[in-house]
Amino acid sequence: MIRVSSRQELHDSLARLKTPAARVGFVPTMGYLHEGHASLIRLARQTSDLVVVSIFVNPKQFGPNEDLDRYPRDLDRDMQLCESEGVDLLFTPQPEDVYPPGFRTEVSVAGLTEPLCGESRPGHFTGVTTVVARLFGLVQPDRAFFGQKDFQQWRVIAQMVDDLALPVEVVRAPIVREADGLALSSRNTYLSSEDRSRALALSRALAQAMRAYVDGERSAERLLAAARSALTSVELEYLELRDADSLQPVSTLDGPAVMAVAARVGKTRLIDNALLAPESPDRGLPRLLEGAAL
Ligand code: PAJ
Repeated sequence: MIRVSSRQELHDSLARLKTPAARVGFVPTMGYLHEGHASLIRLARQTSDLVVVSIFVNPKQFGPNEDLDRYPRDLDRDMQLCESEGVDLLFTPQPEDVYPPGFRTEVSVAGLTEPLCGESRPGHFTGVTTVVARLFGLVQPDRAFFGQKDFQQWRVIAQMVDDLALPVEVVRAPIVREADGLALSSRNTYLSSEDRSRALALSRALAQAMRAYVDGERSAERLLAAARSALTSVELEYLELRDADSLQPVSTLDGPAVMAVAARVGKTRLIDNALLAPESPDRGLPRLLEGAAL
């Protein structure tokens, strides 16, 4: 594995490693890598000739009162994970490599970015699309891999790629969870052991809704009520059921929808979601409830 930090080094390494037919797979991350990131890297490894991972804690996507300064970092461990997953090129730029002096462009996607996480994190998605567009320009991947864990982020990026006709295929990968259901997140490291058990409420709520959905329930109100009953021990920011494409509210589910939840557990903001889609309901999610001490 080669690690590069400057744009020039990235450019030179890509020129050296990339044969004309090579397909470049790209996994952008903010580091503190876990199994969720590893699953994206594995998918990239299976479907690409050259795998590029970036680690960049992007200041533009953090609000003034968010955790930019204390966002967890462990580059040595991240490098080991990348090495053992067969990453070819690890890009660890400094802010001035991503945003050189004179950088003036913002990329923002309208409509999909206002609801859900956009409501409490104004400007967040513009920070994400701006950095991802910039990283796409630097890495020039054929495919880029994103997790369903951040469903709205994936949806917004897919829209940007479509709208700007960027020559990148955006791949969405399933959510990786702990055995008890908690979706893996770099921010889980903030949780005390008490918070860690309370955080289970999010996946349990989604599992309850999913169970009702696979049993045939299609009323949004009743599906939301099934989820809400598990969310009493957390400070709920939102629980919503939205059309999976437009992210607009739905009242009856007659196509793919996403149930999305955001909550504060102690000082930590956590998100999770489940795709309620006739052809691919996540039957594994309700199974987590079996034997769970509710
Ligand atoms: P980060 O939070 O590091 O996540 C990097 C990628 O890993 C994202 O596509 C995210 O959805 C995916 N991921 C995180 N947890 C996952 C899980 N439990 N299962 C599956 N995939 C998971 O998302 C970002 O960084 C940034 O916003 C970024 C896209 C890099 C732009 O700065």
